[in-house]
Amino acid sequence: MDEEKAKKEIASLREEIERHNKRYYLDAAPEISDRDYDRLMDRLIALEQEYPELITPDSPSQRVGGEPLKKFASVGHKVPMMSLDNTYNSDELIKFDERVKKGLGGEAPEYIVELKYDGVAVALKYEQGVLIQGSTRGDGKKGDDITANLRTIKSLPLRLTREETLEVRGEVYIDKKDLEEINLERDQNGEPLFANPRNAAAGSLKLLDPGIVAKRPLKLYIYTLISDTIMVDNQYDALGHVNKLGFRIQLEYPKPLDDIGQVTTYCRKDLEGARDTFPFEVDGAVVKVNSFAQQERLGATSKSPRWAISYKFEVQQVQTRLEKITLQVGRTGAITPVAELVSQDIAGSTVSRATLHNADEIARKDIREGDVVTIEKAGAVIPKVVEVFEPSKKQRDANSRPFIFPEKCPSCHGALTRPEGEVVHRCLNISCPAQFLRRLQHFVARDAMDIEGLGPQTLELLVEQRMVNDFSDLYSLDPLKLAELPRMGEKSAENLKESLARSKGHGMSRLLFALGPRHVGRQTAESLAEHFSSLEKLARAAEEELVEVNDVGPEVAQSLLSFFAHADNQLIIERLKAAGLSLNAPQRVVGKLSGKVFLFTGGLADYSRPQAGEKVRALGGRVVSAVSAKVDFVVAGEDPGSKAKKAEKLGLKIISEAEFLQLIK
Ligand code: IVH
Repeated sequence: MDEEKAKKEIASLREEIERHNKRYYLDAAPEISDRDYDRLMDRLIALEQEYPELITPDSPSQRVGGEPLKKFASVGHKVPMMSLDNTYNSDELIKFDERVKKGLGGEAPEYIVELKYDGVAVALKYEQGVLIQGSTRGDGKKGDDITANLRTIKSLPLRLTREETLEVRGEVYIDKKDLEEINLERDQNGEPLFANPRNAAAGSLKLLDPGIVAKRPLKLYIYTLISDTIMVDNQYDALGHVNKLGFRIQLEYPKPLDDIGQVTTYCRKDLEGARDTFPFEVDGAVVKVNSFAQQERLGATSKSPRWAISYKFEVQQVQTRLEKITLQVGRTGAITPVAELVSQDIAGSTVSRATLHNADEIARKDIREGDVVTIEKAGAVIPKVVEVFEPSKKQRDANSRPFIFPEKCPSCHGALTRPEGEVVHRCLNISCPAQFLRRLQHFVARDAMDIEGLGPQTLELLVEQRMVNDFSDLYSLDPLKLAELPRMGEKSAENLKESLARSKGHGMSRLLFALGPRHVGRQTAESLAEHFSSLEKLARAAEEELVEVNDVGPEVAQSLLSFFAHADNQLIIERLKAAGLSLNAPQRVVGKLSGKVFLFTGGLADYSRPQAGEKVRALGGRVVSAVSAKVDFVVAGEDPGSKAKKAEKLGLKIISEAEFLQLIK
């Protein structure tokens, strides 16, 4: 196909895809199946690959792109992003109405009532219909440039239906059921849970890698239009206009209301009463004066406009007895104190447990077993203990004692540690049953001990049947018993044995990383191995010696000290040594790449990054991740990104994957 023809087809594909996006994400009325949609997208991507010069940033194929950022740039807001004053009851709404009327010299305003989405405010700039920048609110005057992250949100148009230059503002949020799924997955991975949908949205937008953001089900509602050219004179019409341009808005707005009584009823009955029926978290309503001319006359205080106010829904609180305080061990060893309560109905569900956060919170609030406590839950939020119900303090009996935080892990009964400067207690025992499965998965992973043939289900079975209780048990597994496991015939048991035997020689750096002390990544483990050359020497090292190592700050040093101080961990290292594992770093290899420093950027076709790194090290070379004058070879793979540009500026030698393959041949 010639380029002219391709150009035409690309343009029509883009238009069609955008139209289906709008049908799907805005109107919730798709016209074609997912499969047909994917076909259109595949065709577009194929054409764009053939004619890369025709790719433009507003192409629907370009939602996720670029390398992870180091940090966000700062963006100024021409019109400040303000916050809203809060009200909590109808009296305060009446007072707001009185202030507005006074400000307007007795003129009667019309009000529009919107939902107050509980997410993150963002600003989006478009030039001639194309998205050019998206940012957070920040301090209201300047925020972070999070364009790359926002582009991944499917309900955000990269191109408007008209070539307008404008700014819109709105809320990025996550649906309640999506939060549940994210939390389920985070729990499985041993990551801390998001306490509410807003934290989940905020946490997602703060990620530096748009590739990960794209996997979060973020959504967007627009509630503000800023434009010099679009002729609308009130909020109601502005929203309608914004919707026509391709943005998602809340469609069930009522027509503007002219009486504060109606406004109040609408807020309380129609919105607060229906709070649980919204798929997303709504923490209140926003009441706005509809007319822009009136808005301008009312103006703003330094913090918030005088023409709008938020009516906050009630956070539900109830009292119940706290029977016992127990500890929960997360899969990373973080300990959370939990209040075991006499069951109570609150915010549409029955609650019998609530979080007490950490030891400091319990002490500060003097929460004791046997107290009646106030618990709070708002919508999709994890219930929490707010305080001891005051009258109950006076009724404490002679047995009531301040809560003493246990010193032992409820799962393995090993000693708990509280790292300096942190509020969370942790169990650092690598064989602790509550954490062991997850630690084992990490131990056998490809970039750790690289043990093949141990999928998640097999590992679960091995742990469940108590065939593996600590890492060293892997090395004495009985081949006959192994072969009897489901999905494990004789042949794969044989392969597994071989893989285990091979892993014994991997040496200190991989083993240290596999053991999983906190804050010790692959690169740090490598630096530590280079410096100490044996795990036993590292285990004896003092803090001063640790911080001498590249990549090791006080936090990593502390983590290593407490890790090796743990008696159970010492025992496992002994056992691994007895099983024949090498605890030493291999002698520095002398080879044809000795003294040469490599940096990889972009994707390689033949190797993963860790594999390519291994190749370099096996020939005596070193791999780094930061561009500097010390780098001898920058290997630029597919889509090399900013590092390659920086390397070019520094005049470094940039080679292709093919040239790299020649070097390591
Ligand atoms: S209007 C100057 N409308 O509430 C007022 N805000 O405390 C600008 N919010 O930062 C905001 N839903 O994150 C407006 N329908 C809505 C909203 C809304 C949620 C958030 C927004 C803002 C905060 C104000």
